[in-house]
Amino acid sequence: MRKSFDLFFVSSNNHKYQEAKSILDSFGIDLGFLKSNLEEIQSDSLRDIAVVKAQDAFSKFKRPIVIEDGGLFINSLDGFPGPYSSYVFKTIGNKGILNLLKKSRGAKFVSVITFCDDATLQSFEGKSSGKISEIQKGKGWGYDPIFIPDNVTKTFAELNNKNKLSHRYKALKEFSKWYLHK
Ligand code: IMP
Repeated sequence: MRKSFDLFFVSSNNHKYQEAKSILDSFGIDLGFLKSNLEEIQSDSLRDIAVVKAQDAFSKFKRPIVIEDGGLFINSLDGFPGPYSSYVFKTIGNKGILNLLKKSRGAKFVSVITFCDDATLQSFEGKSSGKISEIQKGKGWGYDPIFIPDNVTKTFAELNNKNKLSHRYKALKEFSKWYLHK
């Protein structure tokens, strides 16, 4: 029998869903998955991009949904690739990012989670600061092999507790506090 969920994560990215599911499980929220490519506007604001994605997801599925828009912001590159992280990963990838960097390697990951149902549209933000590694380490998805969060020596790809430190964890924790008291 198919299980029915109260809340769905809409994304084309299965990795993001797996992480979001495991994080929300730890807060007692059961998260379903609807795989879909959502409308992505061009903007410097992750929140503006996330709101349009969430509205698109809700208009497609007519169920309570959450979506995420996120990115990697590199200090010495004035926040590049930021909102363009997905495109930059597909084009120059981790190797290209490593080639762009010299000494200064500070960076942060940012996640915006937006919830939408027929009455509410609400966004939550989480950040994880750290630095870009000298070489790729570990077998993670996206920029995980080149991002070392603060206070540890391993990349996200090498850590087994990424879901306790990540930008996604922090945004979903804020979301959970709100959702469970809604
Ligand atoms: P978007 O949120 O779908 O626009 O994609 C943001 C892009 O940033 C992803 O496609 C990944 O390349 C990258 N990204 C965001 N969060 C993570 C993460 O936790 N690990 C690795 N890469 C990430």
